[in-house]
Amino acid sequence: MAAVTALPVSLSGRFKGSFAYFTIKDRLPQILTKVIDTLHRHKNEFFEEHGEKGVEAEKRAISLLSKLRNELQTDKPVTPLEDELPDAALWNQHLDYQRNLSNGSREPSWFQSPWLYVECYMYRRIQAALAQNPPIDNFDVFKEGKVQNFFESQEAVIALCTYFQELLKNIKDLDEKQLQEELFKLLQVSLWGNKCDLSFSAGEGSSQKSSPLLSLENLIPYILVNDMEELWSLLVNAKKRNAEKSNVRVDIILDNAGFELVTDFVLADFLLSSKLADEVHFHGKSIPWYVSDTTKHDFNWTIKQLQSANHMWMSRCGINWEGNLKKGVWVYRDHMFWTLPHDFSSMAEVAPDLYADLQKSSLLLFKGDLNYRKLTGDKKWEYTVPFHQALNKFRPAPLCSLRTLKSDTQVGLKPGQGEQIQASEPEWMTSGKYGVVQFDAAL
Ligand code: F6P
Ligand code: MG
Repeated sequence: MAAVTALPVSLSGRFKGSFAYFTIKDRLPQILTKVIDTLHRHKNEFFEEHGEKGVEAEKRAISLLSKLRNELQTDKPVTPLEDELPDAALWNQHLDYQRNLSNGSREPSWFQSPWLYVECYMYRRIQAALAQNPPIDNFDVFKEGKVQNFFESQEAVIALCTYFQELLKNIKDLDEKQLQEELFKLLQVSLWGNKCDLSFSAGEGSSQKSSPLLSLENLIPYILVNDMEELWSLLVNAKKRNAEKSNVRVDIILDNAGFELVTDFVLADFLLSSKLADEVHFHGKSIPWYVSDTTKHDFNWTIKQLQSANHMWMSRCGINWEGNLKKGVWVYRDHMFWTLPHDFSSMAEVAPDLYADLQKSSLLLFKGDLNYRKLTGDKKWEYTVPFHQALNKFRPAPLCSLRTLKSDTQVGLKPGQGEQIQASEPEWMTSGKYGVVQFDAAL
C-alpha cells in the first residue's frame, strides 16, 4: 500500500497571535459591524421601496447579525444553518464533518475550528440573515463598497483601457516576442489588481489610484514565484495544436469586483484578440462574498458602467466586452461550490459537475488570496513544499494562481527564500506587497 503523507494542520484562530487569530478577533467583527451599519443606513430606502414590511425585515436581519457577531466574539459553537437556500444541506453536512474532525472533544467553534471554515461560514450567515427576510432578501450589503472602489479607481481604469485600445490597433502586427511581452504585462496588471480587495482592509477603501502599468518594472522583485514563461508556452502550444479545430478555452476564477475585475477583463480580451484563446469563461460568486468578490450583478454592472462612460476608450472596452458576451466567446457562470467552505481538493466529490466543466478548459486562472487558500487547503505548509503537492490531487486542467499574499500560507518557494524575507519583513505574507504567478501543469 502506498504511504499516505499526512497533511499539515489547518490555519486556525486557536493559534493565538496568528493572522487567523487576529482576523477572527478583530477584522471579522469589524466587517459585521459595517454590515449592520449599512442596513441601518438603508432603512429609509427599504421603507420607500417596501413600506413597513421593509423596515421590519431590516430590523430582523440586524438582530440576526448582532446575534452572529456575539456568537463569534464569545467563541460559541458553530450552529447548523436553518434557511432554505439550496446549499444549506451541504453546509450542515460539513459541520458534521468538522465535528468528527474534532473527535467530539469540543464542538466546532469560531476560534477553535479551521479559519477557512469559520470565515466562509460568517459570509454564509450574513447571506442567511438577508435571505430569511424578504422583501430585502436580494440586498447586497457589500455593493456600495464595490461601487466605490470602481469609481475611486477611475484614473487607473482609464489608463488601462487607453493602453489596451492602443495595443489593439496593431495587435495583428505583433510578433511572438512582442505578444509574449504584452501577455506578461497584462498578467502582472491582473496580479497586482488583486491588492484591491475589501475584506483585507475590513471594508475600508482599497482602490488603485495610479496607472497600474507604470509600476510593473519596480514590482518584479516582489513576485516570489513567477511562472509566466510556463503560461506562455502552454498558450502558444495550445494555439498551434488547435490551429485548425480551434477552441482553446481559458477560465478565470474571478475574485474582486472594482479595479481588479477590470484588469481581468483586459487580460481576457487580450487572450481573445491575440488569438491565444478562443473562449474565456468567467466564474463568479452566486452570493455576496468576502466583501468585494464579484457576483453576476457586479460583472454586468461593471461592463455597463464602462460602456456608458464619458471616456472614449473606456466605453469602447465596455462595448466590446458586452459584444463578447453576446457572441458567446465570453461566458459568465457561477456555481454554489465557490461559496462553500470546502477547499478545492474536494471539488471532484462535492461538485462533480463543476469539476467536469473545468476539465474542458485549457487553462484555469485562479485570482486572489482566498482562491489560493482553497487551492492549497489553507494549511501550515512548509514554504518549500511543491505547489503540486499542496494541491492535493486537485488537477482538473493546467492551472495558475495570480495572488497577492494576504494570509500566512505559501508553498513552492526556493529553500531559504521565505526565511530570508521573513528576517527583514515579518509581515511579508499578509501585507499584500508580495505576489505569485504560480503554475501547475496538472500532470
Ligand atoms: O486575510 C485577508 C483576507 O480577508 C482573507 O480572509 C482572504 O484570504 C483575503 O483577504 C481575501 O483576499 P482576496 O480578495 O484576494 O481573495
Ligand atoms: Mg476577494
